[in-house]
Amino acid sequence: MTEPSVNQPFIVPSVLPADFAQLGDEVAELCEAGVDRIQWDVMDGVFVPNLTFGPDVIAAARPHSTANFEAHLMVVNPDELLARYVEACELVIVHAEACTHLHRTLARIRDLGARSGVALNPHTPVEVVEHVLAETDLVLAMTVNPGFGGQKYIAAVEPKIARLRRMIDESGLPIELEVDGGITDVTIAGASAAGADVFISGSWMYAYPNGKAAAVKQLRTTALEAAPNGEGAR
Ligand code: DX5
Repeated sequence: MTEPSVNQPFIVPSVLPADFAQLGDEVAELCEAGVDRIQWDVMDGVFVPNLTFGPDVIAAARPHSTANFEAHLMVVNPDELLARYVEACELVIVHAEACTHLHRTLARIRDLGARSGVALNPHTPVEVVEHVLAETDLVLAMTVNPGFGGQKYIAAVEPKIARLRRMIDESGLPIELEVDGGITDVTIAGASAAGADVFISGSWMYAYPNGKAAAVKQLRTTALEAAPNGEGAR
């Protein structure tokens, strides 16, 4: 399995803007567009004021996808749901803010057979993940306050992304650094320059006039050009 890096940024769509009546066709189209993974925004209406996909919905779409699935659990009690979401998702991301015992939750995701991820809301400091890096395969720095697609990118998170990049590099661990929220062909440059290597895009990708394959290409090119050691680094 290829891994993301500053020289190989991963472009991962959120299916939040998709036609929920055609999810099988929607994920097949994303795979044809060349995405690196597909993200399912799981919302429980409590942790965030929106309600979305149950595990059965994701499992129903899984046979239509050649790309791996990741579940972004924006829920108040992820421990209760982990076993269901690992059935169709190779990567399960929990919010640090929703985990009393984050170290144990991340270890349990791996014990259940998936890769583990931890998400930080914009206000949450990087220190929260400092002592669980050995248990996590991905850190997600939210660049919006979660709950809905189509929100404005919070550029003030970029110094935090840079600190996470240093923390991950100093650990020597193969941890992906993902950003999610307001990612477009403009904002991706700042997130990439700060050190992110996995980029979630929902509304911008779905609205791109030249289609999803062109959107993926545009995002990947811009991320590469802006990456700290990437092709276009100055
Ligand atoms: C949290 C969700 C959104 C979504 C991407 O609200 O996680 O960030 O994935 O939404 P866009 O790309 O439309 O901001």
